[in-house]
This record gives sequence, structure tokens and C-alpha cells, in this order.
Amino acid sequence: MNIAVGGAADADPAFRDSVLAGLAAEQKCIASKWLYDEVGSRLFDVITVLPEYYPTRIEAGILRERVGDLAAVVPEGAALIELGSGSSAKTRILLDAVPQVTSYVPVDISAAYLHAAAQQLASDYPGVDVHPVVADFTRSFTVPPHLAGAPKLLFFPGSTIGNFAIGEAEALLRRMAAMPGVAAFVVGVDLKKDPGTLVRAYDDAAGVTAAFNLNLLGRLNRELGADFDLAAFGHEARWNVPFGRIEMHLVSRREQRVTVAGEAIRFRPGETIHTENSHKYDPEDFGRLALTAGWRVADMWVDDTRCFSVQVLRPALPS
Ligand code: SAH
Ligand code: AVI
Repeated sequence: MNIAVGGAADADPAFRDSVLAGLAAEQKCIASKWLYDEVGSRLFDVITVLPEYYPTRIEAGILRERVGDLAAVVPEGAALIELGSGSSAKTRILLDAVPQVTSYVPVDISAAYLHAAAQQLASDYPGVDVHPVVADFTRSFTVPPHLAGAPKLLFFPGSTIGNFAIGEAEALLRRMAAMPGVAAFVVGVDLKKDPGTLVRAYDDAAGVTAAFNLNLLGRLNRELGADFDLAAFGHEARWNVPFGRIEMHLVSRREQRVTVAGEAIRFRPGETIHTENSHKYDPEDFGRLALTAGWRVADMWVDDTRCFSVQVLRPALPS
């Protein structure tokens, strides 16, 4: 007889296998996409209004100022496809300024949060058809078939592209370049800046980012029958100079043994689980990456402090 431990029996096998493989590695790691269960998505939304977390505020400001320029390149009857839509807050800036958009496809891995956000958006924008897609956008996902032939505006805000290693980011950009009928791809890209500002943005005084990171262990307890003592781990944000990225880690405060989906995992004092990368770019480097992946930078919008950029990509070869 197979006796289930906690919630492990009905766990998503992709989640369980990915977590167990990461915890078996020399440097323990868990892919950052797993930070977003419903609690994680809620905590991320709190992060976006923290004084230290500049990206959301600055990107929204850039979009409000410059989005009118997009209206000229978006055809009538366009479908807006957003990767990692979360609460769809920035989407509203686009929908208000680009009336050619008649349908909206938010794509996100955090199912319950996605559906709630999509429902709210549909009720606030009755002229826009909303078709949420629960998917991991690093794999292939399906646009609703009736929109396959529609002109498309792709939107990837938040600098979520920074959560991927350069090779993964390139692969993602390349896959999106193969989508037919794309008029433009609007990508939020966070820029390199002084490490103090960066570390504070990922280790805020109120401890919300710490709670966001530690929720991953809570999620493992809830969904994989794990027995993590959350008080036995701390949150750490590090600036990794050679990789040009902020890393989030969960640091074991002591020697300990934890069970995850029936497997014993040992931790030395100070040993970490690497839970997220957030790469920061130079605008020119991002432009080169986009070009390698089949795009050209048609426009780049940067705030006055050169803190954050919004890149307007167009297919290098028109479709
Ligand atoms: N676009 C919003 C939210 C960014 S948070 C903003 O700019 O504020 C990142 C979002 O991407 C979350 O909603 C998370 O659930 C989603 N996400 C992260 N990795 C994903 C993946 N591999 N596939 C689909 N969604 C993902
Ligand atoms: C979603 N992503 C772009 C955020 C970031 O800044 O890397 C996630 C985040 N992690 C900690 N704070 C915010």
C-alpha cells in the first residue's frame, strides 16, 4: 500500500521532480517559477509597492509616458499576449492607450491568481476578450486557436526576463520570434546600477521579500509533505559581480535534516538553497541579445535615472 505523506500524493509531478532534482544538486537550488503559488503571487504584489523595490514604479512611469508611441505600430484587432501577467496591473496602461487591442491572453504559471486577475480585467474592459492561459512560458504554450491568425502585441514586463540565465533568455526570445504575426514585443529590462540599491530592493526593511522567499519552503510543506521549520532558514540577497545578477538564497541556520516528498535532505550550517536569479543588463547588451534571437530594437525607453528600460522589439525579418 502506498501511504501518502502530507500533500505529496496529489502534488504536481513536474513540481515534485524539479524540486527533488534541485535539492540533490551540489549547490541546492529551486527554479524561481515555483515561488509563485497563490501566497507567493500575493506577496510579490506587496513587493511591487515597497519603497526599496524601484522596478515596478519606474517601469509603470516609463510605460505611462511612452505607450502612446505604440499605438502607431499596432494593427486593428490585435491580440495582446502577456508573459508572466501576475495581477495584470501594467496591462491596463497598454489597454488604455492602444484601442486596437481587442483580445488579451495573459499567460502565467500561478493558476488561481491568473484566473482572478483575468476575471477582474474582463469586467473592467468589456470591449476586450480575455483568454487566460495557465502555462510555463519557458515551454511551448498554445494561444487560443481563434487568435492564431490575429496580429499580436507581445508584452513581457517586470524584468521577468532577468530571472533567466542569458542562454535561457535568448531561447525564450527566439521562440517568441517564431510566433506568426507579431507587430511588436515590449520587454521590461532592469539595468545595472550600484549594488547597494540592488541588494536593498531584494532585502527590504519590512521583510516582505524574505517572506516571499521563505514561502517557497511553506509551499513545499503544503504541497510536497515536507517538514521545513521556516524559522531555521534565513533570507539572503547577494549581488553576483561576474554574472551581473542578484541572487536570492535561503540559508540554513543550523545543521538539519528535512524530509521532502519522502526524501531525506541534509543541510550544513550556512548551506543555501539558491531560489532566484535576477540579471541586470546594460541596454546595449540586451540589444545584442535580442538581435541574436531574431529581433531588432525599434525603440528603447529609459527613465531619467537610467534605472530601468522598456525595449520595443520588432521582428528582424518581417513575418
Ligand atoms: N508582470 C507582472 C508580474 C511579474 S512577477 C509585473 O510586471 O509586475 C513574475 C510573474 O511571472 C508571476 O506572476 C509568475 O507567476 C510568472 N512566472 C514566473 N515564471 C513563469 C513561467 N516559467 N511560466 C509562466 N509564468 C511564470
Ligand atoms: C518577477 N521578477 C522580475 C522579480 C525580480 O525582481 O526579479 C521577482 C522578485 N524577486 C524578489 N523580488 C522581486
